[in-house]
Amino acid sequence: MSAPSIVILTGAGISAESGLGTFRDEGGLWAQHRIEDVATPEGFARNPQLVVDFYNARRTQAAEATPNAAHEALARLQSEHSGSVTLVTQNVDALHEKGGSKTVIHMHGALNSALCGRCEHRWSAPLEMTVGQSCPHCGAPSARPDIVWFGEMPYEMDRIEKALARADVFVAIGTSGNVYPAAGFVQLARHAGAHTIEMNLDPGENVGLFDDIRPGMASQTVPAWVSEVLSQ
Ligand code: OAD
Repeated sequence: MSAPSIVILTGAGISAESGLGTFRDEGGLWAQHRIEDVATPEGFARNPQLVVDFYNARRTQAAEATPNAAHEALARLQSEHSGSVTLVTQNVDALHEKGGSKTVIHMHGALNSALCGRCEHRWSAPLEMTVGQSCPHCGAPSARPDIVWFGEMPYEMDRIEKALARADVFVAIGTSGNVYPAAGFVQLARHAGAHTIEMNLDPGENVGLFDDIRPGMASQTVPAWVSEVLSQ
């Protein structure tokens, strides 16, 4: 039998033990900021300074964070598992890469990237972006954080859906199952006949769709699961 194809979806919970705040836990980012103000194209059009400042603060915090045992275990799985391992994250930090992962799909964008709102050129974001910064490609003063805001299409959906369609195992780690399309990946994986596993501190909204539920801190549950897979 060939080695199973694995698709992993991570959310803010995997970076919580690295000191980065989640969104919907008590005191989380969405308790401190209104989504409409800082995470929508309309919010950016209304008050670009507020939005740029919000992501500058998150970029600075993320730059100082270090990966934890969960990020490192997933990197080990990607390098040692003989089947395919597709790692999809909703996180905009770079902790998977810092933990050693070579291939990561950032479906909600990345803090270390800037995007031209005019020509869609991307470049490496400075730690502090400024409002009206020029695009190095077309020159328009249209730089914005390369973050997928509410109402925008997440990145690389074709690639993700193809991986889900041939998944044998689907694992969701540290995500509340609130935000679509990511929250619907478990259904696509089930449709493909995959075994589905949730690793979360608190059960996600879509917990009923998982075959195997492993509650706990990601720094413990994820390395334990990776050792299990690699020993099979
Ligand atoms: P949430 O804040 O909604 O959920 C975080 C999940 O992580 C919760 O289910 C927690 O129980 C769990 N958790 C917290 N600490 C944990 C730990 N140490 N180990 C394991 N699990 C832990 O974050 P996301 O689901 O990632 O999108 O949020 C999804 C999207 O909503 C984000 O990408 C962002 C946000 O709005 C955009 O900004 C577009």
